Amino acid sequence: MSKVLIDEIVNGLYILRVNDEDIKYFEALWSIPEGITYNSYLLKTSTGYILFDTWKHHYSKLFLESLSSIVDPKEIKYIVVHHMEPDHSGSIKEVLEANRYKAIVIGHPLTKMMLKSFYGIEPRFRIVRDGEVLDIGDKKLMFIHTPWLHWPETIMTYLEDYGVLLSCDAFGGYSIPSTIFDDNREVVKSYMSYVKKYIANIIGYYRNHILRNIEKIKKLGLNIKIIAPAHGLVFRNNPGRIIDYYLRIGKAEPLDNKVVVIYGSMYGFVEKAIEYAIEVLRKNGIKPVVFKFTDKEQTSISDIVSEVIDSKAIIFGAGTYEAGVFPTIRYVAEVIKHKVGGGKQVLIISSYGWGGVAGKKLQDILAPEFNIVDVIEFRGMPSKDYLERVKKALDRLIG
Ligand code: FEO
Repeated sequence: MSKVLIDEIVNGLYILRVNDEDIKYFEALWSIPEGITYNSYLLKTSTGYILFDTWKHHYSKLFLESLSSIVDPKEIKYIVVHHMEPDHSGSIKEVLEANRYKAIVIGHPLTKMMLKSFYGIEPRFRIVRDGEVLDIGDKKLMFIHTPWLHWPETIMTYLEDYGVLLSCDAFGGYSIPSTIFDDNREVVKSYMSYVKKYIANIIGYYRNHILRNIEKIKKLGLNIKIIAPAHGLVFRNNPGRIIDYYLRIGKAEPLDNKVVVIYGSMYGFVEKAIEYAIEVLRKNGIKPVVFKFTDKEQTSISDIVSEVIDSKAIIFGAGTYEAGVFPTIRYVAEVIKHKVGGGKQVLIISSYGWGGVAGKKLQDILAPEFNIVDVIEFRGMPSKDYLERVKKALDRLIG
């Protein structure tokens, strides 16, 4: 597949998409071997072109080349900045330079300040209020403030003439879908798991704002026919599907009997109890999702957060390590607490050599947000009595 995809979504509205296959860690944090796309949009009006967002700076040269295949950058009259995170704003300085700073930048009041502090630029700027409608040539644009999706300055644009919502981060997802649109069922099906991962990793901390902003958009009574986000698929067949999916993941609604098991085991002591727990779960018809950190295998924390967000219960396994919790599991627990929040059943299983503290410290990290059903700590290998205790705790965990 070509790295750059350009298409006309509706008459005069273009998508410019780049497939970022070079990235390994989004935000230098989240492992995404599946890659990501950056989608910019360009609208032709009777008075000139409006550009909506750009691409990450790594692709600024390619962006200018792609943009120039449709319009001379000097002809761009307005640049709407939906969001200042540099995966979208990273090429704006190059575009403005090619444009000779003739365009008026449109955005949230905070955006003006951030343009200066991020890129040292002070272009002509037009602040838009929440709900403000601008007539630009023959097109009507409504600007909607959608704070914390994903930063405080984030806005969306509703193109009334087409029923298109340019939603920036919201309604987007990771991965590089083989199509631009949601036309192919198989493409959409495989894409959705990357949407969940993206929500959990990137907007998880602000997920209450997903619910608030969707409620706000619904109250506006817009006739949304197409959702065009800044990452991933454009939904034109079923825009309701991506809205509903965002709502479900935003609520962190647990799937029936979904249990995630996360453990670190240096020498197999914790693993022994965890393997027993997995066996008991399977006998009860539950297929747990297991992530392990051992001397043979390490796992993706991005994927853990993605699987935890719609789980009912979590089992943590971690030994005592230098008077604390096995470090990777401590970090994972803190990330889950931060990104996913609480409200799930948790079982903690721990092992120690001479003095056990990991179970209590892990409990301190997770309580009171999570409902800790038990903290089971044993010296070395778990005895039959401890395994029996694991079994009883599992009854409460999934009961
Ligand atoms: Fe895709 Fe928050 O930037």
